[in-house]
Amino acid sequence: MINGEPPESPSPGTESAPALASPPAPVVPEIGKLGAGKWWTSPSGEHRAVDLKTDQPHSARMYDYYLGGKDHFRADREAAERALASFPNARTSARENRAFLVRSIRHLASTAGIRQFLDIGTGIPTSPNLHEVAQGVDPRARVVYADNDPIVLTHARALLTSAAEGVTAYLDVDLHSPESILAAPQLRDTLDFSQPIALSVLAILHFFPDADDPFALVDELVRELPTGSYLTITHATADYDDGMERLAASYRASGIPAQTRSRDEILRFFDGLEVLDPGLCTVHRWRPDADVRSDLTDGEVSFYGAVARKA
Ligand SMILES: C[S@@+](CC[C@H](N)C(=O)[O-])C[C@H]1O[C@@H](n2cnc3c(N)ncnc32)[C@H](O)[C@@H]1O
Repeated sequence: MINGEPPESPSPGTESAPALASPPAPVVPEIGKLGAGKWWTSPSGEHRAVDLKTDQPHSARMYDYYLGGKDHFRADREAAERALASFPNARTSARENRAFLVRSIRHLASTAGIRQFLDIGTGIPTSPNLHEVAQGVDPRARVVYADNDPIVLTHARALLTSAAEGVTAYLDVDLHSPESILAAPQLRDTLDFSQPIALSVLAILHFFPDADDPFALVDELVRELPTGSYLTITHATADYDDGMERLAASYRASGIPAQTRSRDEILRFFDGLEVLDPGLCTVHRWRPDADVRSDLTDGEVSFYGAVARKA
């Protein structure tokens, strides 16, 4: 048990990581503080053991595998390789999605002047993390990260490296329950809901089949945001390449719910909001900078993204 500190992050990237061959010892983090970062276990502050379920593939760890990270286990790598056999461009999708994150957050922090960010489905830390981009514009930026995966929880330490002038916080919560996210006292302690907030929900909604009504879940969050707030979404699509649909099927076969959506379906998430130029497009076409490869095709990327404002 670790009191007052988050658990140490595992580094399970290689098969020769014997310490992680067996399930890690349960850790029960207490509410605590790390520099300017805040650490919470759950909205209610309840303590629970971290079970990484290393024998089952997890979307966060498969994504880390595509991005060339080291935080994945054999089950994740095998499932990711099956997904890559269906859609060999999955690494390109993941990389372009991260590049979109950087450009969209930079735009929100600089041009739109946003200083508060709520990022749901944060994922395993990947450089640069959202707070590093936002605080690169203004070190006073305040960022709340939220994810429901225990592996992300174990890595929260890396997400809490806020600039001294700002703050980062981590919530162990599930997007299926927006009410518990919104009710988290820690959320309200960190973000001022009378001021605009940029909500990002990147590369997660395709893990929500229609039966989960992800449109209602996002709407519940957006309704709580003050005027002048923003919603940013990225989402996998099979509009340009059937391989992305086969990838979703391979996720489902691995026990991970997944559903691609068309452009019109994804636009529904932005109902009632003002979608910024250039609208909903494949992520590499959203305000590209010099780092975006000009020869990329929509099919290779197969991820839509947009940023919208609540008027
Ligand atoms: C593909 S990763 C995306 C990471 C990051 N947002 C990005 O775009 O680079 C999807 C993340 O969503 C998280 N996730 C999946 N289902 C979730 C849920 N029901 N509630 C909260 N997070 C969830 C996963 O744990 C994973 O970290």
